[in-house]
Amino acid sequence: MRTIKEADLKGKTVLLRADYNVPMDSDGNITDDMRITSTLPTLNYILEQGAKIIICAHLGRPKGKPSPEFSLEPVARRLSELMKENVVFSDDDEVAGEATVKAAEAFRASDGRLMMLQNTRFVPEEEANDPVFAGKLASLADVFVLDAFGCAHRAHASTVGVADYIPAYGGFLIEKEVRFLKDALDEPERPYTVIMGGSKVSDKIGLITNLMTKADNILIGGAMAQTFLKAIGYEVGVSKVEEDKLELASRMLEQADEIGVKMFLPVDVAGSTEFSNDTPKESYGIDAIPKDVMALDIGEKTAKNYAEIIAKSKTVVFNGPVGVFEMEKYSDGTRAVVEAMANCPGTTVVGGGDSAAAVALFGLSDKMTHISTGGGASLEMLEGKVLPGVAILEN
Ligand code: 3PG
Repeated sequence: MRTIKEADLKGKTVLLRADYNVPMDSDGNITDDMRITSTLPTLNYILEQGAKIIICAHLGRPKGKPSPEFSLEPVARRLSELMKENVVFSDDDEVAGEATVKAAEAFRASDGRLMMLQNTRFVPEEEANDPVFAGKLASLADVFVLDAFGCAHRAHASTVGVADYIPAYGGFLIEKEVRFLKDALDEPERPYTVIMGGSKVSDKIGLITNLMTKADNILIGGAMAQTFLKAIGYEVGVSKVEEDKLELASRMLEQADEIGVKMFLPVDVAGSTEFSNDTPKESYGIDAIPKDVMALDIGEKTAKNYAEIIAKSKTVVFNGPVGVFEMEKYSDGTRAVVEAMANCPGTTVVGGGDSAAAVALFGLSDKMTHISTGGGASLEMLEGKVLPGVAILEN
């Protein structure tokens, strides 16, 4: 991958695409700024080389129309606090319209070093990867730096289109993400274990298929475990099950068996009669789940078994919580696997989204080798797909 280390940045203006799609509360306060802080090494390096930076990013899904609740202004404010310097915000709903061209000219002539454009998704041309819009963005700068790993699976004007006009380089964040989610996992240190949770088997078909050829152990949890259990003949009460995926689930288990990948299913579960933290919690062996009970977490024996496998692994990937960890009563299974990862001396990679939130909830983020900032992007990378944003940096 071509990275900023290879670029001559002195005296240049850099257009930097970041993934600043951060969660906000109803008052517009940023509730988790990890996606912003993760780009600071890239920003600082570019500034140290004597360049100015114009940042472009998206927030939410405003569907090609300006919408005040998706304005990037609060993000520009937070970045300004973190960088301890002014970030000029161009409040232009056309994103790269005349107002921005003028503002960019003034910015270049000033002492300012950081500028941020309005949400790229305020115009439909962004997601359409419109070449004219991409050209307008590119004309604001001399060099393009892509550090938005979380958007690298989107072939949009601001993620790939601009690379047709000005030289493109990867930032430190995207480089690190690719190193841990692709390179480290193509030739992993073994045993290589993947913890896979989440609600649907259908969301993980591509991932399981790809991991079958690479991983040694796949530990299944979350609601999708119940689909696998039902597929091999267990009664799972009123647990969420994808009836139309039962055949596929049993085929996957057979295939894993043929290839020699160990796919582990829960041997016990914790559950209740309702999807609630307030009704009594009980534990059941998987051959004794009552008709009116839904499984909401893996059971104690399963958690212990999974933790032992993780402890013996040299590479561990966490992709999806194994229970409804947001409800205190059903967080034990997820806590057990996360704690085992935290104590594992091998490489530990967290696949973004809910998994990162669980690790943060248990206060163990700093014990992981790498926590991805990408949700969909990290999943696609683990599925073995070529991400368009990464491809432009490799070609
Ligand atoms: C994300 O939050 O995963 C990225 O910012 C991409 O957002 P999107 O799914 O709306 O394209």
